[in-house]
Amino acid sequence: MPKVTYIEHNGTTHVIDVPTGTSVMQGAVNHLVPGIEGDCGGLCACGTCHVYVPEQFRPLTGEPGELEQGMLQFAFDVRDDSRLSCQIIVTDALDGLVVHMPKRQY
Ligand code: FES
Repeated sequence: MPKVTYIEHNGTTHVIDVPTGTSVMQGAVNHLVPGIEGDCGGLCACGTCHVYVPEQFRPLTGEPGELEQGMLQFAFDVRDDSRLSCQIIVTDALDGLVVHMPKRQY
């Protein structure tokens, strides 16, 4: 099962086994990882699953689609490496993915 490393803003790290086909957001919520809220349940309608994806993983995660880009405008402290983690579906190729959480989601 792919492992995803979630790093909180304060540096606290959580390494979680996330089943393929599951979103990065759901993997965090299922394991009560602090820092990812996922208020809308993954419908790309809240922006509270905001993460930063390091450069080396971006070819694998892809770039945000139009809907995601629109919702990202409402997220806190958006950067070029921002993604909504509900829109990143875990595959075997994403084993070892690292995501960083912003200071807050609201
Ligand atoms: S969970 Fe709401 S936008 Fe990702």
